[in-house]
Amino acid sequence: MREIRAIIRPEKLQEVLEALERIGHPGVTVYQVEGHGRQAGLVEQFRGREFRVDLLPKLELRIVCRDEEVEQLLQAIAGAARTGEIGDGKIFVYPVLEALRIRSGERGEEAL
Ligand SMILES: Nc1ncnc2c1ncn2[C@@H]1O[C@H](COP(=O)(O)OP(=O)(O)OP(=O)(O)O)[C@@H](O)[C@H]1O
Ligand SMILES: [Mg+2]
Repeated sequence: MREIRAIIRPEKLQEVLEALERIGHPGVTVYQVEGHGRQAGLVEQFRGREFRVDLLPKLELRIVCRDEEVEQLLQAIAGAARTGEIGDGKIFVYPVLEALRIRSGERGEEAL
């Protein structure tokens, strides 16, 4: 099993969730996060004033899936989250050791 952590623009959440639904992937957890990538400290205009942007609000989606589902999920998430502008986000993939569905006691991939 793998965990996909996708850091995306908040306004792209709905499109990404719809893309996941089209694939038929059942589970996702959404976190509110703040961060920056390569443009740390960039000065941006906001309502006529200049602000130094240290941390911008993003959403992080975490999805645990079977190894063979990773590629399809990466394509779906990136396709839905992309605008082509800086700050579109990033996706990381991690190994997952175990899963357990609390209601039934199912373990491993059966628990997804
Ligand atoms: N190396 C990293 N480690 C952890 N989080 C990261 C990393 N790079 C980006 N992030 C997270 O992803 C968010 C979006 O990053 P962003 O898309 O700006 O990356 P970037 O490398 O600057 O690419 P771009 O040049 O397209 O903006 C950041 O706000 C941060 O939360
Ligand atoms: Mg950036």
